[in-house]
Order: sequence, then C-alpha cells, then structure tokens
Amino acid sequence: MANAAISVSAGSNGMTRREFLYYIWGASIALLTAQSAGLLVWFLIPKFREGEFGGKFLVPVTSVPAVNGEPINVPDGRFWLVNLDTDQPSPLVEKASDEQPLKGVAAIYKVCTHLGCIYSWTPANNRFECPCHGSKYRLDGRRIEDPAPRDLDRFQVEALDANRNFIAGAISAEIEIGGTPFFAPLVLPEGTAFLSVNTGSRKQGPKQTLLPNVPK
Ligand code: FES
Repeated sequence: MANAAISVSAGSNGMTRREFLYYIWGASIALLTAQSAGLLVWFLIPKFREGEFGGKFLVPVTSVPAVNGEPINVPDGRFWLVNLDTDQPSPLVEKASDEQPLKGVAAIYKVCTHLGCIYSWTPANNRFECPCHGSKYRLDGRRIEDPAPRDLDRFQVEALDANRNFIAGAISAEIEIGGTPFFAPLVLPEGTAFLSVNTGSRKQGPKQTLLPNVPK
C-alpha cells in the first residue's frame, strides 16, 4: 500500500523518478559542454597584448640603429635591436672565417645563455658583456667568451609597410646553423615602415665555436 501511495504522489507532479534523473543527467552534460567551450575560448584568446613582453612590439624603422652601429635597447621587450652588415668593415662585427656574411636586422634576447643574468652592451669594448660570470658576445650575439654554452637567442622579426601590412620575415628569415633552426638577420625591403618583433617567438642561439677574444 505504501508503494502505491508514493507512485500516485509522483505521478500527480507530472514527472516520474526516471524522468527526473534524465533531466539531471541532461543538465550535467550541458554544464560540462559549456565548461569545455569556455576553456576552449580561454585557450584561443591571445595571452599577451601588443607592447607587452610575450607579445609583439612595433618599432618604427627610424628607430633601427645604423648599420654596424651600437645596439638599441628596447627594455619593455627585453631585447636589443641590431643592424648588421659584415661586408662593411667595422670594429663592432667582423665576419668569422666559418660563417656567411651577416646582413640585416635582428632582435636579440637580453638574457645571458649561461645562467640567465641580464647582460649589457659595453661601448668601451664593442661587445655585450655579462656581469655575472664574464660571458661575452659579439654585436650579433655570437659567443666570444664562455661560460655561456651558446650564442644569444633571437626573436622573430617581420617588416611591415606604412599600413602595417606584412612585407617580409617569418619563415623566409629562418636559417640553420649546425642543425639548429635560428632567425637570420632580416634585410629590410624597400617600403619598410615598421618592424614587428614577436617576443612570443624565440629561437635559442646555436652552439658555434667561440670567436677569438681579441682585446679591443
Ligand atoms: S649568467 Fe652570464 S655569464 Fe653566467
């Protein structure tokens, strides 16, 4: 008799126990789907905005250093901007016997490849020097003195026109040095108005032989 009473009571609300469980199950699935969609959107939204480290930095071409001139410091982007041409004699960057000519603009990560100290440009010696353990690097980031295990890292650089449309860079500026993919300096095409430096796209410096440490 008690069972009959319960059954009559559920039926009078218009929903059986089985239907109620179906609704709960359906609601759980809907909630899970909504959570998954939210997570997907969160992953697709860029984490870094332009001008923040990890994102892209827009540099007017007028801010690019002179060919073989001293590097320009971009502190917010944590990189040095250099403009190289080893075909032109310069005390700042001389072509080594084992390398092709270096020509173009590169953005060099400001962190030493040894233990991560911040190195700086030393004008008196025409090279980058790390204050922590004495590693030294040429203008383009190649090692002159260890304990740094490899050359300095570089960020991806692209050339943009006055309307900020892509002209050159990306894949076309990639090379391999000793089997390591790396960003080559980018020769700026005519019509370049801006550089876009992507600090979210970094390649580790290759391990090339040490350059002779000629006292400057
Ligand atoms: S961290 Fe630069 S030499 Fe050690």
